[in-house]
Amino acid sequence: MNNIPILFSKEEIEDCVHKLGKEISRDYLGKNPLFVGVLKGSFVFMADLLRSVDIPCSMDFMAVSSYSGVKSTGSVKINKDLSEDIASRHIIIVEDILDSGLTLTYLKRLLQARGAASVKVITLLEKEVDHAIKPDYCGFRCNDFVVGYGLDYNERYRNLPYIGVFNPEAQKETLNGVNGILD
Ligand code: XMP
Ligand code: MG
Repeated sequence: MNNIPILFSKEEIEDCVHKLGKEISRDYLGKNPLFVGVLKGSFVFMADLLRSVDIPCSMDFMAVSSYSGVKSTGSVKINKDLSEDIASRHIIIVEDILDSGLTLTYLKRLLQARGAASVKVITLLEKEVDHAIKPDYCGFRCNDFVVGYGLDYNERYRNLPYIGVFNPEAQKETLNGVNGILD
């Protein structure tokens, strides 16, 4: 068990993701979009979103990490690239959470430079700060550091079925407890 307080419940997420899927299905009818999930955080959102999309589409994943020290330039290292040519494809980048937006700005430019017909961005969550990029589709806004539904703190909590607020102080006891059992 954990004591991560719920910010967005399983039911709220289901409802929101379903609506986003229907909206995208209307907007991309006849366009056979390619959904590009940004690993790892987007994997749960991607799985649910695609099951709410009822038009022909395909999907792939990319894994990226920021170059340490030069984050302000938005330079990212590609750890896993797409497995197909995207020339003339309509791309929808699927992200878990938009914070500064530097990662997404870089990715969007990269996919545009590869000749995509269009590149749009869907993010499940958006931090209420100034971003380098505006998402085309967004689920929820938040201010806290959140975990669950794919999002992690040091690789933990991705498996929570809801989105919760992570408070390191409050979690110390729980983490110690888990370590105690594992030790
Ligand atoms: P930028 O600043 O490029 O960063 O928009 C987005 C990435 O930062 C991570 N991130 C979070 N991860 N809870 C998380 O688990 C959060 O509240 C959070 N805020 C930012 C995440 O990897 C996202 O893709
Ligand atoms: Mg991420």
